[in-house]
Amino acid sequence: MIAKRFFYSIISCFLFFNLVRAQPASEIKVLLNQRVSAVSTSMWGIFFEDINFAADGGIYAELIKNRSFNFNDPLMGWTWINKDGGKGDNRLYNSGDMLRPNKRYVRIQSTSDNGSNGLSNEGFRGIGLKKDAGYRLTVTARSGDSNIAANLVVELVDSTGKVLDENQISGITKDWNKYEVILKPIKTDASARLNVLVKGKGVVEIETVSLFPVDTWKGRKNGLRSDLVQLLADMKPGFVRFPGGCIVEGRELASRYQWKKTVGDPAERELIVNRWNTEFKHRSTPDYFQSFGLGFYEYFLLSEDIGAEPLPILNCGMACQYNTSELVDMKDLDPYIQDALDLIEFANGAVATQWGKLRASMGHPEPFNLKMMGVGNEQWGPQYIERFKKFNSALKEKHPEIKLITSAGPSPEGDRFTYLWDELVKLNADFVDEHYYQTPSWFLKNASRYDAYPRKGPKIFAGEYAAHSKGQADPTSRNNWESALAEAAFMTGLERNCDVVQMCSYAPLLAHKDAWQWNPDLIWFDNLNAVPTPNYFVQKLFATNKGSYTVSVLKDKEVIAGKDSIYASATIDEKSKEVILKLVNISPRKTSMKFSFTGESFKSQNASMEVLKNKDLTAWNSFSNPSNIGIELQKLKVSGRSLLLSIDGNSVNVLRIKL
Ligand code: AHR
Repeated sequence: MIAKRFFYSIISCFLFFNLVRAQPASEIKVLLNQRVSAVSTSMWGIFFEDINFAADGGIYAELIKNRSFNFNDPLMGWTWINKDGGKGDNRLYNSGDMLRPNKRYVRIQSTSDNGSNGLSNEGFRGIGLKKDAGYRLTVTARSGDSNIAANLVVELVDSTGKVLDENQISGITKDWNKYEVILKPIKTDASARLNVLVKGKGVVEIETVSLFPVDTWKGRKNGLRSDLVQLLADMKPGFVRFPGGCIVEGRELASRYQWKKTVGDPAERELIVNRWNTEFKHRSTPDYFQSFGLGFYEYFLLSEDIGAEPLPILNCGMACQYNTSELVDMKDLDPYIQDALDLIEFANGAVATQWGKLRASMGHPEPFNLKMMGVGNEQWGPQYIERFKKFNSALKEKHPEIKLITSAGPSPEGDRFTYLWDELVKLNADFVDEHYYQTPSWFLKNASRYDAYPRKGPKIFAGEYAAHSKGQADPTSRNNWESALAEAAFMTGLERNCDVVQMCSYAPLLAHKDAWQWNPDLIWFDNLNAVPTPNYFVQKLFATNKGSYTVSVLKDKEVIAGKDSIYASATIDEKSKEVILKLVNISPRKTSMKFSFTGESFKSQNASMEVLKNKDLTAWNSFSNPSNIGIELQKLKVSGRSLLLSIDGNSVNVLRIKL
């Protein structure tokens, strides 16, 4: 819906090529009859990391923060309340019961005949509710007095305390049980709360309180936020890299991502702190935890749902080198390698295997078809190479079919980078993951970075990139048009070199408007809405116009990578039999270009061109003006072997012509 709302303001301007009047254009040749290289089906993908409240408080649709009282501060997000003169004697307990997934529970004891007493949850910077939509509330509770069945009143309230809907859970018995009711708020509210109350005298003990919209992605119970997944699906990504990023590494090894703790019954997944919580002191989010409701099974399912290859990244025995750099002793590395082997079994193994059986029991007997895996995230130094070697030999011996992604470190040049590359070439690595968070001018300058890369040896995975007009985590930094335009120019260079660069993903993907740590990000959201940035539309334009193989676009026999402020690449889509031309104009002026096509001539036709443009390089998509920059569709008439085309200043253009 959001996607529809935002763009395709279709401009049916039928521009006849001979009507274009601008300064004389020198000829650009598109060599349609010379296939250069195949475009990998997973060329343009996405990188999901649980940063900026991307998982809990974001795409994972749970609306209750600290639903099982398992945060370090067990009542974080909760407050004891009473209403209408109610009184209480309330406690937090730890049962130590090894048979229960949660040891902690609260005991609400309402001591007065009048009014009510209980708890209120603030959600993730509020609870986002939509008028008349259904919300499924699940409470795991028991009666605090074993002789009397107890009742609870649950209510959704707005920020003034006005009740938006309420319901009663009655007949709560002395044993732990799950109780479920549906609530339907009478108005939309982005910062509502949930109250759980005992009315009159009574005692109820509660282990977990959970609230999900009924409308989740594919209607899955306890699933994902459908508007956010839809935006990802609309990009048609070739792969999903998950779950990080530095999340994989942890600040120290204890807080690293361990996939085995994120599968099986969500209620039994052990919660840990999110390492981004206080990373940036000026963007501190001490209430940031990982419930793992979105765990590895759900990541695989998400990838499958949106037609993308799963690309899990695993810890390689190293914690984040920007934090503790804690290392696992080489002699203790085996369990880490075993995790990698077991993950392949979880994804691809027969249902009779230990991990394949778990996958089947979770609802997916068919394999997930895992083809690749990352060993470490942004690691560097000889410690990395030493550990990777061990992973490499174990994994290649048992699973030669799985391609391994290796690290080029945190920056796209320098000593660490060169050292890793030299070593990884010697090891004949499958893929090297290069990261670049750089200025827009770096991206423009590097649009021809890969033209001179060796054609043999490891392939490139541009696993994390974004143009930053300002420093990282700068609150005033924006996903502005300047950054998106620079990324688009750079991406023409990635596409032109797709024999070497075979996978690419922008980073980070998602950010909560009120709880982010890292800025800029591809998609911003609050508790009700999502705003795709101009950078999102650039990614979408490239991914939805991938084509099957590249052909050369040349001016004066040279690739077009910045000369006269133009960047260009072209592919042929074998299925639709179209040539796809990508043209980026970074000058503020309208520019006319004359194209001549060799090897094919076009029948007279109305071709379509998707355009992103804005005169103002500081323009961005805000919550109050979310569709400021979006894709417009222009039509133009084409025939014969040549085309005179005029493209707007500061624009990204994707032209498709039927062959
Ligand atoms: O994308 C944000 C962070 O940037 C990632 O976690 C890390 O890999 C990189 O340093």
